[in-house]
Amino acid sequence: MNQPEFPPDFVWGVATSAQQIEGAAQVAGRGESIWDRFASKSGRIADGTDPRVTCDHYHRWREDVDALRWLGVGGYRFSIAWPRILPTGSGRVNALGLDFYDALTDRLLEQGITPYPTLYHWDLPQRLQEKGGWTSRATVEAFVHFTDAVTRRLGDRIRNWVTHNEPWCVSHLGHEVGVHAPGKRDPLASLTAAHHVLLSHGRAVEIIRRNAPGARVGIVNIIVPVHAASDSAADRDAARQLDGSFNRWYLDPLYKGLYPADAIADRMRAGHLRGPELPFVHPGDLDVIATRTDFMGVNYYSRAVTRAGANGHPEGVRQAPPEELTAMGWEVYPQGLYEMLQRVHRDYAPPSILITENGAAYPDDPDAGAAGPFADTRRVDYLRTHLEQAARARRDGVPLHGYFAWSFMDNFEWAEGLSKRFGLYHVDFRTLRRTPRESAFYFRDVITRGALAENAGAPQSRRTM
Ligand code: FCB
Repeated sequence: MNQPEFPPDFVWGVATSAQQIEGAAQVAGRGESIWDRFASKSGRIADGTDPRVTCDHYHRWREDVDALRWLGVGGYRFSIAWPRILPTGSGRVNALGLDFYDALTDRLLEQGITPYPTLYHWDLPQRLQEKGGWTSRATVEAFVHFTDAVTRRLGDRIRNWVTHNEPWCVSHLGHEVGVHAPGKRDPLASLTAAHHVLLSHGRAVEIIRRNAPGARVGIVNIIVPVHAASDSAADRDAARQLDGSFNRWYLDPLYKGLYPADAIADRMRAGHLRGPELPFVHPGDLDVIATRTDFMGVNYYSRAVTRAGANGHPEGVRQAPPEELTAMGWEVYPQGLYEMLQRVHRDYAPPSILITENGAAYPDDPDAGAAGPFADTRRVDYLRTHLEQAARARRDGVPLHGYFAWSFMDNFEWAEGLSKRFGLYHVDFRTLRRTPRESAFYFRDVITRGALAENAGAPQSRRTM
């Protein structure tokens, strides 16, 4: 029979973010975010979605907390919308914005659910973007002000804080390839933005500790194992380069207080940097960035396989046949989670690790027959195989203390709009009705047992709440 693989104090949770679920974009004084603006330009969002409604969680949060309670999660990772708290990014605090998170926090705590808020999950106030956004050092000060306002209000009750979600996405997707807001395409701007995000993290840790004594603080990174397509020296070097720009560019400053020399040299070769000096780094910055934290948040979805393309630059290679990819086109590669947990434990030794996101997008099958459209067997398999690797990492000594599934419910998947569904709960975007998928039942079973249920169960027999 199943022995519990996870101890009773392991944190089981689900994750969301403000821009992706809240809606109510113009309610109670919320200002415009860079994603509201970005999405208003034609062609930026695959299905043309306006992200100002999404799941309308802002109005339905009580019902959503009931669903969290039903799932049995011990933790809930959500994010706090900066434009709700500071509609223009700095200056006057909008008390109504804080009231929303205050009420949500109290309700979660009443239900025995520990809040894990993220301060920045990509919804920069548009007014700050107009002053340079993350490429401006002044945005670091604005983030400190935002962190101070939030933690003064909630620091007495919230014991776990995440500063940033995935600086790589902010920097690379937002400023280098321009597929995310603010849609810039400038390599030096992307490195500058990354540095300011990391610096603001270090500054915020200090503020959080001051306003919430004893609270635990961490930052979340997306982490990707990079494998060479062949054993050739050129392909192995391409893998080194991608690992440098994707993983080490963020983890090395945060946990070692330096930017990786080989990755700096790669940027010089590419013409993105004039010399080995990084023009945006001021004396003392790296010490601030490397401020000790209490946990490392790891978001894991897939791996990258790379070969040497033109000039030896990394070029992606598809390994799996299309039918084995998720709807995002990402390979299902659970052993990569084990590999990366081992690696961050070995190379960076954080005192504690949380998997802060892991999950998969798949389309529902409206012709699914008796099992119904919400029998998401592939998502259940994805979760189960990744949890097996998480359990294996724990057995092998990785200090892994929690797992948050992405996502609680279908939501606004950034540049993909509403078309990619990651939810344990299905959301009907016409009626906004939420319905638990089979994966929600599966996850609930796992939480109850602390073990990976062998039989995910037949949806027909268990679709009752
Ligand atoms: C991560 C993001 C999250 C969601 C998932 C699919 O990169 O943090 O908001 O979009 O990908």
